[in-house]
Amino acid sequence: MSVFAIYPGTFDPITNGHADLIERGARMFDRLIVSVAANPNKQPLFSLEERVELANEVVAHLPHVEVRGFDILLVNYAKNIGAHVILRGLRAVSDFEFEFQLASMNRRLDSEIESIFLTPAEQYAFISSSLVREVAKLGGDIAPFVHPRVGAALATKFMLHN
Ligand code: COA
Repeated sequence: MSVFAIYPGTFDPITNGHADLIERGARMFDRLIVSVAANPNKQPLFSLEERVELANEVVAHLPHVEVRGFDILLVNYAKNIGAHVILRGLRAVSDFEFEFQLASMNRRLDSEIESIFLTPAEQYAFISSSLVREVAKLGGDIAPFVHPRVGAALATKFMLHN
């Protein structure tokens, strides 16, 4: 059986930590769709289209990885496109409680879709999109944490906002 997984998140913006997880996932699954949630509750800095475009640039070298946006219930989206697995990252113990809740709710909503967790490489364990946005906004060097295109997009955003 070929295993088709989705890796959902807000990706505002995609970081090297996300990219590390995607590369690990790409080695495990026959097909992986990076699924960018509209997530208006988080009031993202980048529009859904911008987040999809940036993620597309980051995964361009991975042949069976695609990027798509979605704005419906995650398990319904997974089912609609025929995915069997939801991939999520666990960076630290602090992620566990939220991820456990999310996975339990998703299982309750659709028991046929499994959640699988991977840990990113240690050097990415402390990265988050909001920290990257804050460092960029305050003029710090974010080059070690994001793809150059993401760095350029953040610089443009904050130049326009200031
Ligand atoms: N490397 C770096 N950072 C990572 C990471 C990794 N490997 N894995 C997670 N993160 C960070 C993100 O950057 C983000 O940081 P921030 O909040 O500081 O910006 C944080 O961890 C969590 O973000 P993310 O993984 O994108 O999850 P989320 O909480 O924003 O979104 C969804 C979770 C999209 C899966 C969830 O909201 C969802 O399913 N939405 C669809 C609607 C739905 O079905 N809701 C009901 C769910 S039961």
